[in-house]
Amino acid sequence: MRIALIGVGKTGSRVGESAVTRGHEIVAQIRSGNAADVALLRPENCDVGIVFTPPSAAAAAVRVLLNAGLPVVVGTTGWDDERDEVVRLTGETAGRLLYAANFSVGVQVFLQTARELSRRMNSHPNFDAYIEERHHRRKADAPSGTAKVLAQVVVSELDRKSDFGVCGHALAPEVLSVASSRAGDIVGVHRLAFVSQYEEISLVHDARDRTCFADGAVFAAEWLVRQKPGVYTFSDCFA
Ligand SMILES: NC(=O)c1ccc[n+]([C@@H]2O[C@H](COP(=O)([O-])OP(=O)(O)OC[C@H]3O[C@@H](n4cnc5c(N)ncnc54)[C@H](OP(=O)(O)O)[C@@H]3O)[C@@H](O)[C@H]2O)c1
Repeated sequence: MRIALIGVGKTGSRVGESAVTRGHEIVAQIRSGNAADVALLRPENCDVGIVFTPPSAAAAAVRVLLNAGLPVVVGTTGWDDERDEVVRLTGETAGRLLYAANFSVGVQVFLQTARELSRRMNSHPNFDAYIEERHHRRKADAPSGTAKVLAQVVVSELDRKSDFGVCGHALAPEVLSVASSRAGDIVGVHRLAFVSQYEEISLVHDARDRTCFADGAVFAAEWLVRQKPGVYTFSDCFA
């Protein structure tokens, strides 16, 4: 497969390594300095674009790729405000778009387990729930995209929570607390905890190396090029 990398930073560079290991060809590496080159990509010279840019650059690149008729895998997080419009464009162009806040297979299992745990905790109202996430100091968005997905999973399953919010003020009991820390080079840690007066249950995912995201993103690209037009997410690859 001919893959264009849009964003070749800490994660995008790993995507390139993973793609080559899996026998694919990298036909373009687009960074801030050559951002306009994304407009040169066409189905004649590229099979799929994989986007790991900062949040501010993602939607513009995705629009160009969709208008060129290319399938797009997006790993960038923190562009939620522009997602609806990009989803609309995917429909209008009969395009293929796959977005996931987290391409780690371990996080897929973690989210499934969090769903099951939250469901079970409906029978134990003396436990409150909270989420913590930790990432490297340069991360642009907070809470992380994965923490938001995790929070949505808990809110959808745990009857006594109706929303999630960040701290900094008193939180109503029905609001799930989501806290973020930024330090050093932490790749990404997510923790869901249930705490009662006497005990605590924790479910933790600790990403040790960005290769876990890179392998998942390339796997998602291999899957996406075989699909009909539509909007997908990572869990669809395992359905
Ligand atoms: N979904 C997942 O599994 C997952 C996993 C990890 C990270 N992420 C997300 O992926 C995103 C990138 O993270 P990162 O840590 O890899 O960031 P990073 O190291 O800062 O890399 C960003 C890359 O994007 C390039 N870039 C900047 N503006 C651009 C533009 N207009 N067009 C094309 N490329 C542009 C940068 O170019 P320069 O090198 O020239 O600055 C750099 O190569 C973040 O949103 C992060 O949250 C998602």
